[in-house]
Amino acid sequence: MKKLICFVLAFMMPGSFATNLDPENYLLKISQRLTGKWPTPKEYNDLTAQMSRRSCSEIKCMEDYFKAYIDKKMSTPEFYSEATLKVHERFALQTPYTIPFPLVANDSGTDESSSQALLVYRTIKQNLPVDELFISQVVTRTGPKVLSDSAAARNLIEIESETVPKAEVLSADPGVIPQDAALSFDYAGHPNVSGFFTTNKFLTRYWNTPINNGRKRAAAVFKVMLCDPMVPALERVTAKARENALAQGATESTMTTRTIEEIHRDRHGNQKDCAQCHNRLDPLARTMRPLELGVSKFASRGRLRFYDATNQPVDHPAANFHDLIVKITQQQKYNDCQMNWLFRWIVGKDVNVHPQRFADLLGQFEKDGRRMKETIAKLLLSPEFRGETVSFREPVSYKAARDVLNNCYECHSPFLKSHGAELKLTLSKIAYKLDLAHDGQDRLMPPNYHFWAPSKEQVLSVKTWIQEGAPLIEGMPLLNGDEVMKMLDPGVAR
Ligand code: HEC
Ligand code: HEC
Repeated sequence: MKKLICFVLAFMMPGSFATNLDPENYLLKISQRLTGKWPTPKEYNDLTAQMSRRSCSEIKCMEDYFKAYIDKKMSTPEFYSEATLKVHERFALQTPYTIPFPLVANDSGTDESSSQALLVYRTIKQNLPVDELFISQVVTRTGPKVLSDSAAARNLIEIESETVPKAEVLSADPGVIPQDAALSFDYAGHPNVSGFFTTNKFLTRYWNTPINNGRKRAAAVFKVMLCDPMVPALERVTAKARENALAQGATESTMTTRTIEEIHRDRHGNQKDCAQCHNRLDPLARTMRPLELGVSKFASRGRLRFYDATNQPVDHPAANFHDLIVKITQQQKYNDCQMNWLFRWIVGKDVNVHPQRFADLLGQFEKDGRRMKETIAKLLLSPEFRGETVSFREPVSYKAARDVLNNCYECHSPFLKSHGAELKLTLSKIAYKLDLAHDGQDRLMPPNYHFWAPSKEQVLSVKTWIQEGAPLIEGMPLLNGDEVMKMLDPGVAR
């Protein structure tokens, strides 16, 4: 067997293949990503045997083998643990180092992680849309042996007992969750029950006070669903002020109530425009008022308000919290955000993806109904995950514009890394700041004090590229004629 591996390695060493993964490392990478563990010796042996049977030494001729391997790995308990951890990480929830599957209810029935874990489990197992994590009204938990049905549900989300529907045993894979140990409750039509947001863990991590009025929770919704960080000003500013006080000699015990009050009064630092965040935050927070003490059955109206990726205002009334969360899942920005999350989890945060490739992946994600399991599997089969370089025929004008914009990254993070609607918005800002409408005459960037300034030709090369519709790939303009006109219109009021 060893000999065979050596032979295979020697065979694969030379040439242009070097940048690609070999099948063994691909196996390793899949296993690590899905389960956090190495492949077993048996899995390695099996792969090698298959490769020699097919006289194949590349991933390409082993495609179906890897598809089956991914499928197999995705039904292991280790994968469900890993996925649950990833989702917890996303919600910034504290987690034990691992979440063991199968889940076992403890005697008191207060096993807090089980309902979240089961939600992730069900979403993946049944290949449901990623939306399920946010909107699910099926609440599952372990422990019928120790708890009565209603006690189980109350314990989970503290819903008034009279609203507890009849429990059904989750028909789960018996290998993963013992059949008699998981109960699911269907809260269809409930105004507030909404996936992860109405689990104990979320509601205690993002606690509430009468002054806060659901804003902390609303900010968390913006962060995980729309990738809008909403700067949790309170915690950051407060923490900083406290650290300063400590650095200047105060100790925890000598910090008077007064000092602490002062720190809190300045909680938002010197933010000028409150509406900039609270316009969006408060209408969502309003729908979360019934969540103050557990999950009540009363509805509170609110609105979904934000600016989408093209800077268009979105403003929809919502009848209740669940309704509002469902409305968020209908937004393009939500799609972008979820795909981004899955990409970063599976492929990696450090991997460069061509904006056009990301747009393709996003399109595929939408076409697949945003199904979680399927999307993860596709990402594992993507060239980006395999470390293959995806090359496109790039237009000359794009290359020229990119060379100029490269000079801006001393201060900015790369402009051209975003995609689709977001990239269009970035381009319109660049067009404005470089005054492309007037060939750069009143250019605002880079700032005057900077040592580098673009020549007129350089400004024009950015303009030319935008005039062509800002294609990233030969023959595929990003902007249509109207959009170009608007971006370069000298008459438009800024
Ligand atoms: C950058 C976005 C942002 C801006 C600007 C902003 N806020 Fe906030 N505000 C938040 C977030 C996020 C929270 C919730 C913080 C938390 O509890 O984690 C919050 C919470 C609050 C709270 C509740 C505080 C508490 O103790 O629970 C008040 C009151 C408030 N903001 C008032 C203001 C006022 C007044 C301004 C303008 C001076 C302002 N905010 C500007 C984001 C912002
Ligand atoms: C020396 C640092 C520096 C360099 C170099 C620089 N910028 Fe900026 N840029 C800034 C700062 C600071 C701001 C925020 C203040 C403002 O908007 O004027 C900014 C803002 C911008 C904005 C607005 C961002 C937004 O979200 O509203 C754009 C667009 C922009 N710059 C484009 C460019 C381009 C294009 C270049 C290169 C040709 C460039 N900048 C080079 C410092 C720089």
